[in-house]
Amino acid sequence: MTANPEPELPPLHESLTWLTPLSEARAAALIAFLTEPAPADVLDLGCGWGELLLRVLAAAPRARGRGIDSAPASISRAVQQARARGLAERVELEVVPGRDADLTPADAVICIGASQIWGPPVEEAQPLDYAAALQALRQLVRPGGRLVYGEAIWSAPPHPAATAPLSGRDDEFVTLDALVELTREAGFEVLRVDQADLDEWDVFEAGFRDRFTRWLAAHGDDDPAAPAIRDRHEQQRAAYEEDYRGVLGMAYLCLCG
Ligand SMILES: C[S@@+](CC[C@H](N)C(=O)[O-])C[C@H]1O[C@@H](n2cnc3c(N)ncnc32)[C@H](O)[C@@H]1O
Repeated sequence: MTANPEPELPPLHESLTWLTPLSEARAAALIAFLTEPAPADVLDLGCGWGELLLRVLAAAPRARGRGIDSAPASISRAVQQARARGLAERVELEVVPGRDADLTPADAVICIGASQIWGPPVEEAQPLDYAAALQALRQLVRPGGRLVYGEAIWSAPPHPAATAPLSGRDDEFVTLDALVELTREAGFEVLRVDQADLDEWDVFEAGFRDRFTRWLAAHGDDDPAAPAIRDRHEQQRAAYEEDYRGVLGMAYLCLCG
């Protein structure tokens, strides 16, 4: 007997603007940081479907951009959006694991939620190797250039219920203060330190769960896979609302190389 294939869920870009908890207001501040002064080139590592990179290029009309991501569906969406916004001539978008990419330094660099490019694979559930990521990023930011580094942190001390739906370990992430120290040790000047607020997290998590709701709306309750999809929705909701809300955080650091 063959196992039923995993149901294909709607793509996350239909429910989320970014694959990170990020409000429009915070995104505008990050774009302003990356484009004043105007960069000649912009590099986004783990660009997802390219929303921030494309907005930076729209705000810096002379800049060229490059985005890489290991997820083919995300890069397809980024390519489609680059064409729709008239930016295709100024941006290269590539499906490639970050470690295999032939990267050259840029004036403006973005790396949000993608430090795993330089560390152990997420499936190994090891502590996130921020230092390896920051050292690699340091080489990719031209002297005087700018980096927006976004990464998961502990916003409150982790407890067993909060870590259980994540990797199960207290040392997966560090606090915001510890992360700022790591960026200084890597040789960056820290210009601005922020973290996502609970509204940003609530919007992000609701969007993340929305693909389950959309799947159920499209397939109906009688579909044999519907109970499993409902379970996944409920597990995700409970893990966030009852366990890691306010504990798992997301830092946004504006750094100068
Ligand atoms: C948390 S998401 C953030 C996406 C995007 N930066 C944003 O803010 O919307 C992390 C992204 O890193 C990508 N990624 C993970 N491991 C990668 C790797 N080894 N090489 C390239 N991209 C990777 C994922 O496919 C995903 O799109």
